[in-house]
Amino acid sequence: MSSRTVLVSGHADVRAVLDDPRFTVPPVHDAAPASPSSPPAQSERGLAWLRSRAVRFSNGDEHLRRRAAALDLLAGLAPPGLRAEAAERARALLPVRPGPAERPEAVSDAVVFAPVAVPPVHDAAPASPPPSRPRPGLAWLRSTAVRFSNGDRHLRRRSVVLDLLAGLAPLELRADAAERARALLSARPGSTERPEAVSDAVVFAPVAVLGTRLGIAAHDLPTAVDAVRTIADVYLGGADNDRLPPADAAVRLLSGLLGTDSDEERTAQRIVLLVQSCAATAALLRSALALVEANRPSWTRTPPVADLVAETLRFDPPARRIRRVASVDATVTGESIPAGTEVLLDLAAANRDPAVFTDPDRFLPGRTDAHHLAFGHGIRPCPGSDHATALACGVLDTALTA
Ligand code: HEM
Repeated sequence: MSSRTVLVSGHADVRAVLDDPRFTVPPVHDAAPASPSSPPAQSERGLAWLRSRAVRFSNGDEHLRRRAAALDLLAGLAPPGLRAEAAERARALLPVRPGPAERPEAVSDAVVFAPVAVPPVHDAAPASPPPSRPRPGLAWLRSTAVRFSNGDRHLRRRSVVLDLLAGLAPLELRADAAERARALLSARPGSTERPEAVSDAVVFAPVAVLGTRLGIAAHDLPTAVDAVRTIADVYLGGADNDRLPPADAAVRLLSGLLGTDSDEERTAQRIVLLVQSCAATAALLRSALALVEANRPSWTRTPPVADLVAETLRFDPPARRIRRVASVDATVTGESIPAGTEVLLDLAAANRDPAVFTDPDRFLPGRTDAHHLAFGHGIRPCPGSDHATALACGVLDTALTA
């Protein structure tokens, strides 16, 4: 890719790029390999580092994430295999019976600690995944997700997503989201619960609603929502390296909880629906609640929830910028750019383009002017826009009347 990036912020220009098949979705990258100071170099990893990262001493969300990683490692260690290897190792140790020079306790020590030696943890997973069927993890998810695909693959995967979404009626999602928010809000913080924990649960209620509809059992929902959040945090790239293994474990956990389809691409798109909905819908809800709070004093009555959601999407879009890359030499805003140039599309700026929106910097629910670009546009707009809107409306139906 060329090192140059072009920023596009006009409403019409952003739409033109999103309509143009010459601009494709660029590959996603994580942070460069860690510098020697972060995370700690091998030599700096001591007991404190181990304790601070161990599942044994973790609580809350961190505990769930680390436990999922531990369960994932253990899933690769079949108990019958361990038994056979432990027997074999003990057999190898026992014939070296103490001669006069050897203390008996040294041998029995070796035997009682034999289980720790079998098998080395790195044998749990194949060193490199079989080429035809990569082990589910973040890299697998990204390489199979509609979001990072182009051309025919994108079309095929997008049709799987549309098929899955067709089974999720927005009106029902809205009712489910209102109901779940009600249940969460009625469990309002007593003396023992932090208020932000409750509001976190409320803004992530849409993930729980979608998870239920996609087949996750009720008792697995908190773990599933946590796993989705872990993946969503790193999904779009640029994450620190130490956040990647938990995301790998979370992808494996979710593929287990969702049950695998015979078609692996379909399994991936089911995870994708949860991940794509997670951060954006939560951000939309947080913004909407804050904007209502800020504007209430100037309103004689609270505007209809659907208008609040639509204007929040315009005024403060959850996905502020999206990227494309020119696959061939092209033209953007009248300027010629070579193939490989990255194009940054500023949806937030386009949503306040004065050529399109009157009074663009005012939060005015109920606007009738042209459509915002919060859900993208053109060849690959958000296929879950109606679902996202319904889920957000459902949560607000409850939250604004509670
Ligand atoms: C407020 C919430 C949401 C916002 C603001 C949002 C926004 C977007 C945007 C801007 C894109 C286009 C990215 C691009 O062109 O590069 C996109 C893609 C996508 N969104 Fe959403 N989204 C939201 C919620 C959801 C939900 C609830 C779902 C699923 C239930 C979903 C599923 C998807 C998928 C699968 C794609 C990839 C489509 C493709 O590449 O063809 N989104 N979203």
